[in-house]
Amino acid sequence: TQVLCVAGARPNFMKIAPVMAALAETGIAAQLLHTGQHYDAAMSDSFFADLGIPRPDHHLEVGSGSHAVQTAEVMKRFEPVLESVQPQAVLVVGDVNSTLACALVAAKHGVRVIHVEAGLRSYDRGMPEEINRVLTDQISDLLFITEKSALANLVREGIDPARVEFVGNVMIDTLHRNLERAVPASLTLGTLLPHYAVLTLHRPSNVDDPATLAGLLDVIGEINRSLPVVLPLHPRTRGNIEKFGFTARLDGLHILPPLGYLEMLGLMRDAKLVLTDSGGIQEETTALGVPCLTLRENTERPITIAEGTNVLVGPDPAAIRAAFNDVMSNGGKAGRIPEYWDGRAAMRIAHTLQGWLPQRKGTRAA
Ligand code: UD1
Repeated sequence: TQVLCVAGARPNFMKIAPVMAALAETGIAAQLLHTGQHYDAAMSDSFFADLGIPRPDHHLEVGSGSHAVQTAEVMKRFEPVLESVQPQAVLVVGDVNSTLACALVAAKHGVRVIHVEAGLRSYDRGMPEEINRVLTDQISDLLFITEKSALANLVREGIDPARVEFVGNVMIDTLHRNLERAVPASLTLGTLLPHYAVLTLHRPSNVDDPATLAGLLDVIGEINRSLPVVLPLHPRTRGNIEKFGFTARLDGLHILPPLGYLEMLGLMRDAKLVLTDSGGIQEETTALGVPCLTLRENTERPITIAEGTNVLVGPDPAAIRAAFNDVMSNGGKAGRIPEYWDGRAAMRIAHTLQGWLPQRKGTRAA
């Protein structure tokens, strides 16, 4: 095996799918490892089925836990697999706990680390993903970036630009490949809503604090009176809503379970507006040309603001109300497609690896 690819949580699966396909197409021997960070059928299995991701060669079944427990479990269980597979390189994607855990084990073993979606920075160390991004990039040997701003971030952190390559966005490869197969919103909703908004909410900063979550759900309730709001509920958010006794605040919203990739894609494509605190959805709405209001103070994906349809609104109800009214009266922000978000990012990665891997036989020199 030349490359051991790692995926662990929902936002990893749409990124690893085109990478695995491109490695196969270019004849690079790859294996896939699933850490099991996400394990519900709706958060994991359905993505493998929808996206045709090969069955993982290794499954660590780590499940949920505190950040320390989850990260440590991945590390402990990954080490023996790495030792037995002895790949030339480990490839990790995104910024979840599984990304950092596997990168760290590989680096300590002297196995080269390839990071796909490197260099994104929110400059908010309160986000667990920001810690994962910064640390993963520091120990990566080859860093593939989705937008050029990431290069400046990496250089500021002392990373040699020779190790960084701008290839575009593999998640948008997946979007291109599947847009025609997307499930029409009317099927997912079981009814025809000519106009609706889609909301996703799961960031700890939005859903772990009762006052913030209440404020968000209340303004969403207001919006729902003029534009129906569809909310596929993440398990963390559902859990907190129950724990805080906020279930009544969901009355009138179109609540759905976590959706499969093709259902979510169709739902976003046909929406008038998307409100989200996700990272990936900021990019997918830009690729689809659908207005996006991001319910966060910052974004690690600034090109979606500079060129795309994204507006940074934050969690403040008054700001959300104002931005919503602007979309309703002006149709929302127009955008263009960022450079290299063209469906060929994974092939650029594979072509680079064809030249890079042979020069790196075995493990890194001590
Ligand atoms: C993780 C990622 C986040 C990503 C998100 C997408 C980290 C630090 N965060 O956050 O970047 O945007 O995935 O979903 O890695 N749970 C289930 N079933 C599952 C998985 C989780 O019920 O299959 C519940 C558990 O109660 C768990 C909670 O969701 O404790 C949180 O899961 P976890 O993997 O810790 O983080 P996410 O919030 O999903």
